[in-house]
Amino acid sequence: MVVLGIESTAHTASVGIVADDARVVSLASAMYRPERGGIHPREAANHHVEVLPELVRKALEDGGVRPSEVEAVAFAQGPGLGPCLRAGATVARMLSMAWRRPLVPVNHCVAHVEIARVLSGLDDPILLYASGGNTQVIAYARGRYRVLGETLDVGIGNFLDKLWIELGGKFPGGPALEKEALAGGELQPLPYSVHGMDVAFSGMLTAALALHRKGVPRQDLAYSVEVTAYAMLTEITERALAHLRGHGVVLGGGVACNERLRAMVRAMVEGRGGTMFAPPRSLCVDNGAMIAWTGHLAYDAGVTTSIAGSAVEPRQRTDLVATPWRRSTGAAPASLLEPTPAPAG
Ligand code: ATP
Ligand code: FE2
Repeated sequence: MVVLGIESTAHTASVGIVADDARVVSLASAMYRPERGGIHPREAANHHVEVLPELVRKALEDGGVRPSEVEAVAFAQGPGLGPCLRAGATVARMLSMAWRRPLVPVNHCVAHVEIARVLSGLDDPILLYASGGNTQVIAYARGRYRVLGETLDVGIGNFLDKLWIELGGKFPGGPALEKEALAGGELQPLPYSVHGMDVAFSGMLTAALALHRKGVPRQDLAYSVEVTAYAMLTEITERALAHLRGHGVVLGGGVACNERLRAMVRAMVEGRGGTMFAPPRSLCVDNGAMIAWTGHLAYDAGVTTSIAGSAVEPRQRTDLVATPWRRSTGAAPASLLEPTPAPAG
């Protein structure tokens, strides 16, 4: 039996089918790309409404799966953009009714952790979640996934996209800046904005644009922005690892496709004797397979929802979502709340 999962929190509409052993049977995705500027929620939702029926058909066909073989229908309930979430939830409700299969709500951020967790084989990793709209360090502690640190302003991907568009490029900016940065080598001073476990990017955007106006070459700007911003992310991830006395770090989100970020986090984690794992790109970015897999875990642990109770939650908080499947998988790591033993003497 398999679970079908629907993702539609932001730019990407995606349908994944995943088997009991976490094998991705099929994955069909389509991304809304705005003509200019950032995402327009209603336009993105219209895109998702148009493509989702075809994506469902394609996922079933590619996987050779009949509707009768689908055990449950999972969907991303939040967090995300309301109109986009509603598009995916509506399709999920219809499939659940038509196929008479249970409907399973999934938290998008928890899904990024769970797909990376199962692929990595790490029992209790810390997630660095770096995407367009989200920049968070997430770990499991005392019965819930907790956001230990996050951006205080924009998501890192949105920051990279905005910068690239201001430099005359087109969305998405992250991959374009990555190529550009390979040709750069002159490190420019930029604001390094870490506040405890949190980070901020808007000051770096202003400073980078000022350097651009002064004539600093685009490659050097791209290189400096990557090095500075990814060092900030590496620092807060390292602090989480140290506090939790953890051993593993996994990556998620579109920015986690970036080779420099992967290399920097890997060097930090391995330097501490730990293990770093980054899923393949198709499972780093928003995708239906992570929703299907987390739906699997949730359904096996008894989580389902009625149609009436399946309203989307654009601001759903990661630490308010119950994760009963984790109870059986060993003790939580040394909790943040447990006092560190005092040094002897
Ligand atoms: P979320 O709802 O999780 O915030 P999203 O709509 O931002 O999702 P993702 O697919 O997770 O979607 O991430 C897209 C972001 O990833 C874009 O901002 C894009 O510029 C960035 N990105 C993609 N590839 C790279 C890369 N190689 N280097 C840096 N950034 C990248
Ligand atoms: Fe995401």
